[in-house]
Amino acid sequence: MNLILLGAPGAGKGTQAVRLAQKYSIPHISTGSIFRSKIKSQTPIGIVAKSYIDKGQLVPDEVAIQIVEERLEKEDCKNGFLLDGFPRTVRQAEALDEFSHVDAVVNIAVPLNKLLKRITGRRTCSKCGESYHIDYLNGKTTCAKCGADLIQREDDNEQTVTSRLDVYQKQTAPLIDYYTKKGVIINIDGDGDIEKVFSSICEKLG
Ligand code: AP5
Ligand code: MG
Repeated sequence: MNLILLGAPGAGKGTQAVRLAQKYSIPHISTGSIFRSKIKSQTPIGIVAKSYIDKGQLVPDEVAIQIVEERLEKEDCKNGFLLDGFPRTVRQAEALDEFSHVDAVVNIAVPLNKLLKRITGRRTCSKCGESYHIDYLNGKTTCAKCGADLIQREDDNEQTVTSRLDVYQKQTAPLIDYYTKKGVIINIDGDGDIEKVFSSICEKLG
C-alpha cells in the first residue's frame, strides 16, 4: 500500500506514521527527518536545506522531489511506503504522480490554535525520532523506547512555527483539494488522543 500522511505541522503525522509503518510493514519516509540527518552530517543538500528550515520555509521542490524519487526506488519500497511530509506542494504531488502512484492520503486535521502548543512542547528522541510532549513526560528526559536523550528540534520555536503554519496554509493545504478530486483522501479528526486517532485511521484504511 502506497500511503501519504498529510497535515499541518504538529498534526501528528510523525506520531501516527511510526504506528502505521509497523502495522502495515512499510517503510516510514519522512522528508523532514531526511533533511535533519543531512544537516547533521553537513552534506551539501543539508547546508542548503538548513537555510530554509531555520526560517520555516519549504526546501525547493526540485531538491525534495529528487530525494523522494531516489528513496522510492529502494528495494524496501517494493511492497509499499508511507510518506510523511511529502508532497507539500502541488508541484511535488504532480511529480510523485509521474514516478509512482498513491493508494490513500490520510489527512489529519487539528484546529490551528492547538498546533502551536503541540509543537513548542514537543521533545524528540535524538536516536529513534519518537515524538513526546512535555505535558506527558513527567519530567523525563530520555526516550521510553530506546533510552536516548530527548531534544527539542531547532525549528520548534514560536517564531519558526508561525512561519511553518503560514506556509502550510498557503502551499500545502491545496493538496487536500488535489487528492479529494482524485478520490483517494481519507479525512481524520486528529484532535483526540493518540491511540484513538490511530484506531480511526486503521478503521478507515481497512
Ligand atoms: P517536518 O519534519 O515534516 O515537520 P512538519 O510538517 O512541520 O511537521 P512536524 O514534524 O512538526 O509535525 P508532525 O505532524 O509530524 O507532528 P508530531 O507527530 O511530531 O518538516 C520540517 C521542515 O523540513 C519543513 O518546515 C520544511 O522546511 C522541510 N521539509 C520537509 N519536507 C519537505 C518537503 N516535502 N518539501 C519541502 N520542504 C520540506 O506531533 C507533534 C506533537 O504533538 C508531539 O509533541 C506529539 O507528541 C504531540 N501529539 C501528536 N499527536 C497527538 C494527539 N493526538 N494528541 C495530543 N498530542 C499529540
Ligand atoms: Mg513530523
